[in-house]
Amino acid sequence: MVWIQWSFWLFCLSLVRAEGFYKSDPNVIELTSANFDKVIQRTNYTTLVEFYAPWCGYCQQLKRSIQSAAKSLDGVVQVAAVNCDEAVNKNLCAQNRITSYPTIMVYRPPKIALDRPYEERPKLHNHANEVYKGERKLKPMVDFALSRVKNYVKKLLRFTKFEQALGGTHKNQYAMVLFSKRDKIPPLFKAITLDWLGMIDAFLIWNDKLAGISDFEIANLPNISQFLQQIESKANETNSVFVVFDRFNDDYHLFEGEPFNKKAIAEFLHQFGTPNEGPSTKRESFLTALKTNKKAPKKSKPKSKSKSKGSPMEQDEL
Ligand SMILES: *[C@@H]1O[C@H](CO)[C@@H](O)[C@H](O)[C@H]1NC(C)=O
Ligand SMILES: *[C@@H]1O[C@H](CO)[C@@H](O)[C@H](O)[C@H]1NC(C)=O
Ligand SMILES: *[C@@H]1O[C@H](CO)[C@@H](O)[C@H](O)[C@H]1NC(C)=O
Repeated sequence: MVWIQWSFWLFCLSLVRAEGFYKSDPNVIELTSANFDKVIQRTNYTTLVEFYAPWCGYCQQLKRSIQSAAKSLDGVVQVAAVNCDEAVNKNLCAQNRITSYPTIMVYRPPKIALDRPYEERPKLHNHANEVYKGERKLKPMVDFALSRVKNYVKKLLRFTKFEQALGGTHKNQYAMVLFSKRDKIPPLFKAITLDWLGMIDAFLIWNDKLAGISDFEIANLPNISQFLQQIESKANETNSVFVVFDRFNDDYHLFEGEPFNKKAIAEFLHQFGTPNEGPSTKRESFLTALKTNKKAPKKSKPKSKSKSKGSPMEQDEL
């Protein structure tokens, strides 16, 4: 009797061991020592990583939450997993001092001082890491990951701040501004800003701060000033307004696409420069291939239902 139970248990064990948990999940990247650094270190994105072993009960319980977290963090925080049971990953798990399963870690890039010359900026492989010690539930995990996203969006507290933000001398030709219905920087806007980091400056102003802007003028930018003078009524009509200002040519480009999501906004922004990360980049194809475990990346992956409703830029949480 004891022997039957034992062999049955071994049999089950061999079944779970055969596959990583997330091999077929479209949002979770299964990492190995071969791609760990490339995925986690060579990016301006934050990554949540679960170190697990397929036989561990707590890991099995956590699986669904990790999958849901990956779905809601898609495009904002990378979500990955390392199967420490695989022989090739033993060293990787040891290097990351994994002593129990599951261990959830968050890796985040150093803050880049964009006003410093490129050579003096910290190198991207110096990601800081920390062990997540909170509750192993969806919302706390997602909130924690979002709190570790580097923010490069500057909030303008008054419309008069446009004087500095758009006027004067700047290294970058373009500045993107979200005239926002809420006094809060949406995670999605932070992510878009990461993609164009060092190429397009990013600002947010709460629509409640626009009262009185109809007389406002920025020296030497009459065309942009005229746009700003009319922004209040435009912002009153619509939810949020997203515009790219061309400081060098006193011009502006209003985003009028639908829907108001990362893919559509990225498509719009590609006319101002080609980023290293984000939609339609080589890096994204590389990540998609890892997620779907296929050699050739798919051109358009099916959209999840939750994404099509509402506009992510408007939501408190994604
Ligand atoms: C990260 O941000 C910096 C901005 O200084 C940029 O040079 C770099 O290309 C970005 N992305 C990656 C993947 O390195
Ligand atoms: C916009 O809405 C606010 C609040 O409802 C109102 O006070 C303001 O006059 C409106 N501005 C314009 C230009 O319609
Ligand atoms: C002002 O901006 C509009 C809108 O993009 C553009 O069509 C126009 O050419 C600009 N005018 C000048 C003088 O730059």
